[in-house]
Amino acid sequence: MTSYDRTILITGGAGFIGSHAVRHFVNRYPTYRIVNMDALTYAGNLENLKDIETAPNYIFEKADICDEERTAELFAGYAFDAVLHFAAESHVDRSIQDPLAFVRTNVLGTTVLLNACRNAWDKERKDTLFYHVSTDEVYGSLGREGFFTEHTPYDPRSPYSASKASSDHFVMAYHHTYGLPAIISNCSNNYGSHHFPEKLIPLMINNIRNNKPLPVYGRGENIRDWLWVEDHVRAIDLIFHKGRKGEKYNIGGLNEWKNIDLVRLLCRIMDKKLNRPEGTSAKLISYVPDRPGHDLRYAIDATKLKNELGWTPSLNFEEGLEKTVDWYLNNEDWVNQVTSGSYQQYYEQQYLKR
Ligand code: NAD
Ligand code: TYD
Repeated sequence: MTSYDRTILITGGAGFIGSHAVRHFVNRYPTYRIVNMDALTYAGNLENLKDIETAPNYIFEKADICDEERTAELFAGYAFDAVLHFAAESHVDRSIQDPLAFVRTNVLGTTVLLNACRNAWDKERKDTLFYHVSTDEVYGSLGREGFFTEHTPYDPRSPYSASKASSDHFVMAYHHTYGLPAIISNCSNNYGSHHFPEKLIPLMINNIRNNKPLPVYGRGENIRDWLWVEDHVRAIDLIFHKGRKGEKYNIGGLNEWKNIDLVRLLCRIMDKKLNRPEGTSAKLISYVPDRPGHDLRYAIDATKLKNELGWTPSLNFEEGLEKTVDWYLNNEDWVNQVTSGSYQQYYEQQYLKR
């Protein structure tokens, strides 16, 4: 039997960022055994991991992080040394439709995992870690100026960000109260392959491809800081191995875009790729009623991560967007599969019935 240096539990590894992280850790660290625990909600898809599913150091467990008994069984069976926690309900618009689902997974589920670690790990051990993957949205909304630092007070304003903020507080509470070794990172908006087409970039790519209206909320003036998903995973790898326990790290793209400018750029890229006359896709832009409580601007100051661990984003945005568009155009089957079934119902409720 192969013996491994460490066994790491990755939760939510069948989702967008989680699947990039699972692939990265499985390939880069053959001496780590990676166990992916995912409930396979609408956002989880094992197709995302087809290329590594037979890797000897990879195991999948279909399980809900809110299920205390099952979680305890997995901890007993695998003797995890560390947890990399991605599993969450992650979409703001869905959190406005159904806040309790977010409280359940993001708050209760995270606390179930924290309890499992607390019960399983001897306090004297120096090699355990609960790594909590969080979002910049916990800090609230910026005006035109300024950046979120690790010291910005929490001010969540959507049910999604309130549930993530609450989970961050539980992680730090377990660190301070029970001495649980923990780190949190708060990242800006990610983009890249395997992103579920309910979020802005993949939704727009899919609608442009299908000549459907491009629903821009409000006047399209809101600003997000976009980061290539693989750069996020690289940052997580560094923090996981070299970050200081009990600390928080901000991760950001240094790449702020107004939604409308981003959608126009995507239209230009897609016109070229689809051999459409320039300006064709932009005609699909359709301004729709704004998201309630829509945060104006997010922007991250990632100086701490740069100074302590030398991380900076690697990819320029236009290059990253082109790669992303290419992936979606070359993976129509994936898109068709994830947009069949319950996606249609969500889309209707979100965009056609309002
Ligand atoms: P996602 O919605 O694509 O994936 C979430 C995954 O979690 C899915 O595979 C889903 O099946 C699984 N999951 C959901 N509920 C579960 C439960 N109760 N038990 C077990 N598994 C469950 O999300 P994502 O965009 O990959 O985000 C991953 C993490 O990163 C989240 O914690 C999110 O808050 C955080 N984050 C996301 C972004 C972003 O831009 N997407 C930015 C910063 C931080
Ligand atoms: P989203 O991808 O949902 O991420 P978040 O809200 O977590 O930042 O949305 C990114 C931005 O795009 C946000 O300002 C809302 C806006 N948006 C639209 O204008 N239209 C859409 O159809 C969607 C999904 C988002």
